[in-house]
Amino acid sequence: MTQEAEAQRAAADGDLERLEVELLLEAIYRRYGFDFREYAPASLKRRLWRRIREEKLESVAGLLERVLHDPQVMERLLLDLSVNVTAMFRDPSFYAAFRRRVVPHLRTYPFTRIWIAGCSTGEEVYSLAILLAEEGLYERTRLYATDINQVVLDQARTGVFPLDKMQEYTQNYIRAGGARSFSEYYVAKYEGALFSRTLLDNVVFAQHNLVSDRAFNEFHVILCRNVMIYFDRPLQNRVHELFYESLEPLGFLGLGHKESVRFTPHEDRYEELDRTERLYRKVR
Ligand SMILES: C[S@@+](CC[C@H](N)C(=O)[O-])C[C@H]1O[C@@H](n2cnc3c(N)ncnc32)[C@H](O)[C@@H]1O
Repeated sequence: MTQEAEAQRAAADGDLERLEVELLLEAIYRRYGFDFREYAPASLKRRLWRRIREEKLESVAGLLERVLHDPQVMERLLLDLSVNVTAMFRDPSFYAAFRRRVVPHLRTYPFTRIWIAGCSTGEEVYSLAILLAEEGLYERTRLYATDINQVVLDQARTGVFPLDKMQEYTQNYIRAGGARSFSEYYVAKYEGALFSRTLLDNVVFAQHNLVSDRAFNEFHVILCRNVMIYFDRPLQNRVHELFYESLEPLGFLGLGHKESVRFTPHEDRYEELDRTERLYRKVR
């Protein structure tokens, strides 16, 4: 085959695969209501192929057939697509900045509502609850922790995390400005570290889809870290609109290292509190 013919064939294969992916995402949306149609294509395709291999299939069309007829395959695919990697006090400098820049304002509020969007298995929620408790603010805070994926939320509610992670999390906790002994917050149980139930006293876990669900409250703080990187630009903008609508005037938005309000239609509506940690305040 000539080079030109080979290039033509590769292009045709690429077009066909794109079509199969579109059909699969449409089928998932119509059959299960999960809308991945505007997720960033490169990472989406990698994750689809991982599931195709795990299910011992050969093509995206093969996965489409299985997903339509077997909800358990959909459940496994949902876990792949929703990328649940997380950690306690992940990116500790973010929490240090939160203590420095946001906590002093929260001290002046009688009550604070915080939304953690895309909370995965809850490590971020427990971390923030610990931080707020240490700052004497937990009693007058309500944390709303949401995720698209019910499986991770169920896991979050258990408060059990792998024991072998505790050394790493202790280091993160210290770097985040934690001043106590991290082991005060959990007891070792079999292979797990069971975190104090009191950390959940003011937490509400709920399923919420950033793509298709609407605003459900007004918040003083919204944190959404390592979630929007999986969305394409128009979807990111829509989610920014949702956050803007859901924030009280002068509310705080924390996006973490990977995302930003720069180059979004909302850029001018926020004051930048910390450039590296992408902490913003809604000013107009
Ligand atoms: C990589 S984790 C980030 C967890 C945590 N925020 C952190 O920074 O460690 C991304 C989470 O976003 C959730 N997610 C993905 N798409 C979502 C959507 N459309 N609505 C709500 N959550 C979503 C996934 O289920 C996953 O738990």
